[in-house]
Amino acid sequence: MKGVILAGGLGTRLLPMTRVTNKHLLPVYDRPMICYPIQQLVTSGIEDILVVTGGDSAGDFLKLLGNGEAFGLKSLSYAYQDGEGGIAQALSLARDFSAGEPLVVLLGDNIFQDSISEAIELYSQGGGAMILLKEVDDPERFGVAVLESGRLVEIVEKPETPPSRFAVTGCYFFDFRVFEIIDGLEPSSRGELEITDVNNRYIEWGEMRHHVLNGWWTDAGTIESLFRASELVGEDRDNPVLNGISMGPADWSRHASE
Ligand code: G1P
Repeated sequence: MKGVILAGGLGTRLLPMTRVTNKHLLPVYDRPMICYPIQQLVTSGIEDILVVTGGDSAGDFLKLLGNGEAFGLKSLSYAYQDGEGGIAQALSLARDFSAGEPLVVLLGDNIFQDSISEAIELYSQGGGAMILLKEVDDPERFGVAVLESGRLVEIVEKPETPPSRFAVTGCYFFDFRVFEIIDGLEPSSRGELEITDVNNRYIEWGEMRHHVLNGWWTDAGTIESLFRASELVGEDRDNPVLNGISMGPADWSRHASE
């Protein structure tokens, strides 16, 4: 299985911090936000990662992360998203990278307390698609699961009246057919190709599974959640998922002098 991290977008909810840089380069506790999805994938045993980004700061990801060798990766690749086509459009840039293999996709502003390795194992036993859900107090901020007797029947994107408290987190598992689905998508009312439309297609096909998370989960895409993310990470310093790859000053000075 290969990993894809989606780290584009304008980050408008984080202005003015995002006026001159990409949201995923902003600090969360002691390191740039993009380091968390990288650590999550590395500590879950994923060896090939594609980072999809865009905008004026795209080159800074390369400066920060290099070729991934320092993290023990076999490969770290980059793709550039032109414009604001949405999450599903960003994912479409991973077609060649995936080369027919299943993908685990992480949104670059999502931080998970627990390792997703168990979810990777679960997904590997099936196929199709799988999403991770988390019960939250503010589901209207997210994609929300419609559950009927525990069965996932639909996902509604940012509903005014949430049908449940189960938010769809930004961790998705897809087989190669995800790219056929994206090819057939129409832009939503906000002019983007929506990941929720992709997930709903798998649900219609009867090929979507879900798994409910126990540990905390947060996005870091708003002022409040960015602040909260730093607090949560700071309270959990011994957790390898949050602190699992060496990013100490020594490594960074070595990296900078290369
Ligand atoms: C996106 C997805 C949403 C999901 C969320 C998780 O929303 O569209 O379904 O629940 O990520 O962070 P965004 O934060 O990009 O608006």
